Amino acid sequence: EKDLGNDLAKVLITEEQIQAKIRELAEQIDADYAGKDLLLVAVLKGAVMVMADLSRALRSHVSLDFMAVSSYGSGTKSSGVVRILKDLDTDISGKHVLIVEDIVDSGLTLSWLIDNLRTRQPASLEVCAIMRKPEAVKTEIDVRYIGFDIPNEFVVGYGLDYSEKYRNLPFVGTLAPHVYSN
Ligand code: PRP
Ligand code: MN
Ligand code: MG
Repeated sequence: EKDLGNDLAKVLITEEQIQAKIRELAEQIDADYAGKDLLLVAVLKGAVMVMADLSRALRSHVSLDFMAVSSYGSGTKSSGVVRILKDLDTDISGKHVLIVEDIVDSGLTLSWLIDNLRTRQPASLEVCAIMRKPEAVKTEIDVRYIGFDIPNEFVVGYGLDYSEKYRNLPFVGTLAPHVYSN
């Protein structure tokens, strides 16, 4: 029971599928930003895996920066009201910025973040998310680079947590019922 994998009901996206998709997205990003300076902005903590893999799959120079945000409001669902716990170290005005996220669920976090970063007047602002739940969307977000559309189920792994656990799984899956009843 120390084995993380024992808590899973099923694997939704394998490690191989994720890594193949990362390479595909990286190729597109390399082509789209050719000749431009790109700043990748990841949202802690979920996006750390995508950030690490995507940035290493790129052929061009990029800079990395991180933000930490917290949703106000009770419960586990994001409310759309966001507080900055850690802001960017960089001034992004005039820069090409690509937000890197693990998942677009309701879209509320990203919607807030896009509005916030836009006021800082970057040269361009786009989003790359490895997963999206089309059925959970409350705010339509224009996600330029998308990995997988997944069903509206609670998933963990590849950065996604349940009570801060399972982030370090290299794949994405759903949890077995016994995990919730403990
Ligand atoms: C999760 C996930 C996204 C966000 C998506 O982060 O990593 O950032 O929720 O939800 P939304 O589209 O409904 O706003 P969380 O707030 O759980 O923080 P974490 O990244 O530290 O796990
Ligand atoms: Mn997150
Ligand atoms: Mg979380």
